[in-house]
Amino acid sequence: MATLLTGIGELTTNADAAARTATIGDAALLITDGRVAWTGPASDAETAAAARDSGLSSLSRSSGAVSRSEIEVIDVDGRAVIPGFVDSHTHLVFAGDRADEFEARMTGVPYAAGGIRRTVAATRAATDDELRTHLAALVAELHAQGTTTFEVKTGYDLTAAGEERLARLAAEITDEVTYLGAHVVPEGAEGEAYVDLVCTGMLAAARPHVRWIDVFCERGAFTEAESERILRAGVAAGLGVRVHGNQLGEGPGVQLAVRLGAASVDHCTHLTEADIAALAGSDTVATLLPGVEFSTRQPYPDARRLIDAGVTVALASDCNPGSCFTSSMPLMIALAVREMGMTVGEAVWAATAGGARALRRDDIGHLGVGARADLVVLDAPSRRHLAYRPGVPLVERVYRGGEVLS
Ligand code: NIG
Ligand code: FE
Repeated sequence: MATLLTGIGELTTNADAAARTATIGDAALLITDGRVAWTGPASDAETAAAARDSGLSSLSRSSGAVSRSEIEVIDVDGRAVIPGFVDSHTHLVFAGDRADEFEARMTGVPYAAGGIRRTVAATRAATDDELRTHLAALVAELHAQGTTTFEVKTGYDLTAAGEERLARLAAEITDEVTYLGAHVVPEGAEGEAYVDLVCTGMLAAARPHVRWIDVFCERGAFTEAESERILRAGVAAGLGVRVHGNQLGEGPGVQLAVRLGAASVDHCTHLTEADIAALAGSDTVATLLPGVEFSTRQPYPDARRLIDAGVTVALASDCNPGSCFTSSMPLMIALAVREMGMTVGEAVWAATAGGARALRRDDIGHLGVGARADLVVLDAPSRRHLAYRPGVPLVERVYRGGEVLS
């Protein structure tokens, strides 16, 4: 089965490494076997499709979907098409509600990560099926907003059996699961003994379900030495490294992430020149989470400074019940453009190819030939509308692996 999307008003492929933010006007895209087989000018589409299958010589263009032998031709009527969003940082497995904390912050109460312990209590009390139902609702929310790949962290149970449970439930819905036993020290635990557990029994329990390890390296959570010990235990167990760092103030997170070859260091709100230089000379992606600054009333990270210094920047939602309860990648793009000095092209790249880099994936985040056919048809003539029309649902249709997501 093949699908030809034609009549694309503006196509973003991210396939041109030299011109990262380029677009193609009046374009078409051919999908075969769930992968991108060809992209180019719509005027060449029929020839390209026919060349792929000599039996498909009589394609006709029309509005909506029409089947012609084995190829489905869909005219998207001038709409823009972009790669599916890659949300490389979420905390979707949880129970409970902390809207009261958000409301208090809006009247001036500062964000304190201590609220994490409230979610821990609610999550421990939830059954597997309650967590599954909540997760499924959030996943539907992500898909409806154009996200086709997402990472999910554990970190709201903080016992060995409980972290194993959260990792297992997350693995039911994504391949990108991160073990975050080092979220905070739970109530009643003692710091050093807890770090021991995170590095041994808890890690072993979660290990079968996870690809990554992460640590909240911040004042009030884990010190540099504790974080390094935890991350090295993860590496020894075969996990890739991610770090929550430099969210609440300057600190060691970024330098630690670079030193350990982390795929990504996330937040990066408070950076020194030395942090930026370290990132620029590394393969570690700086993942910015502007929904957090929006929801905690903090200053936004300076994406312009990072990009100008040569740092690879990703955008992610950090969807979680405390510091940022939104799963909207279009909102992240709008905030990045409005508040962080990114161009629309840079923001869309960061929310797609940047997220893929942060997950060390090259099969997603772009629409080059051979990529998984994960893409979003926008109900808009250009991707600019993602920032120009904030809060408006512009996702007309989402394909994942060439199939329309319901
Ligand atoms: O990424 N920083 C630590 N973890 C989350 C917040 C979690 C919470 O407040 O529940 C974050 O912002
Ligand atoms: Fe987070």
